[in-house]
Amino acid sequence: MQPTKLPSASSDRWFNQSAVDIEHRYQLLIEAVQDYAIFMLDAAGCVQTWNPGAERIKGYASAEVVGRHFSLFYADEDIASGKPEHLLAIAHSRGHVEDEGWRVRKDGSRFWANVIITAITGPDGAIVGFAKVTRDMTERRRLEELERLQLRSALIQQAREAEQKRIARELHDDLGQRLSALKMSLAAHQTKLAQQGEEIADQIDAMAASLRRIAADLRPLGLDDLGLEAALEWLVESFERRYGINARLKFDGDIDGFNELTTISLYRVVQEALTNVARHANASEVNVDLSTDDRSCRLSIADDGDGLPASSPRAEAFGLMGMHERAEQLGGTLAIKSEPGVGVELTLVAPLARIRNK
Ligand SMILES: Nc1ncnc2c1ncn2[C@@H]1O[C@H](COP(=O)(O)OP(=O)(O)OP(=O)(O)O)[C@@H](O)[C@H]1O
Ligand SMILES: [Mg+2]
Repeated sequence: MQPTKLPSASSDRWFNQSAVDIEHRYQLLIEAVQDYAIFMLDAAGCVQTWNPGAERIKGYASAEVVGRHFSLFYADEDIASGKPEHLLAIAHSRGHVEDEGWRVRKDGSRFWANVIITAITGPDGAIVGFAKVTRDMTERRRLEELERLQLRSALIQQAREAEQKRIARELHDDLGQRLSALKMSLAAHQTKLAQQGEEIADQIDAMAASLRRIAADLRPLGLDDLGLEAALEWLVESFERRYGINARLKFDGDIDGFNELTTISLYRVVQEALTNVARHANASEVNVDLSTDDRSCRLSIADDGDGLPASSPRAEAFGLMGMHERAEQLGGTLAIKSEPGVGVELTLVAPLARIRNK
């Protein structure tokens, strides 16, 4: 690696300072750095200097580490495999080395570090020591991990929706049509079959109804054809009919033009929330409100039931978790308000900028 050279022919006063002054300025700069551990090792790998960034990241005060071998910062398994010496050897032969991995703080806790070790040679080319710059990347790594997980669950959910949509269309378009045709040809032979024919017709009707219900659960067809408003109206009405709980749906503001992910997400949140009301709330009334203002969209589902139980939910309860994930995918949030005997109110708020069709 080329040694860093300062520009020589400069009229700038800064560069006309003496070498000692420049060194002093570098010293001040290193002292001021908080986010990086910057320190020197001698040729054998023992710590020679220590900056406040190093103290902050690794937890040792200068007096505690100067003179000690830098393998102190490595995990036992890395020491056993000779990693610290290996890194110095590479820095020696190539001029520098970069590494990412776990390092150990004074208190024994680990952090994910990005480390750059640069060999420093004297005029005769012999190693006089190493400069080491370490950055704590733990938080960044955690966020990246989280992003990866969220992306994965979003992709799985989208794939599932697409698959359900396909099956629902298939059920509706294929099986549904065949049942209708069967019923029509049965009607043509009605007189011959007389009494028995009517029974069969009733059975076919029942089959067609359950087929429609299964298809609608998989993928609300109205959502694609009629839009969110009509699909929610249908959902809320059939909830009321099925469970005998008064359900009111209110729209406010402009709720058109949401993108496909948003439409299905809002629908699924209402669907799951209503299922929860039917299963757990012991409620007599539920209000579903969907509204927009100039910046965001707000969906709330409020019941007048028992409220959430004090105990934490079963490990395999995915409803509320799924709602949180859907809210996050829209760049929004889901808030849950619950009061014993007053009921539960779920509120999803998402920014319009993210959820409108461009
Ligand atoms: N509206 C509500 N009123 C009272 N309790 C509720 C309500 N919604 C949810 N709960 C409680 O919160 C728990 C978690 O709900 P969640 O939807 O996550 O799971 P679940 O409905 O039990 O199972 P799943 O939705 O995975 O089939 C429920 O088991 C129930 O105890
Ligand atoms: Mg549930």
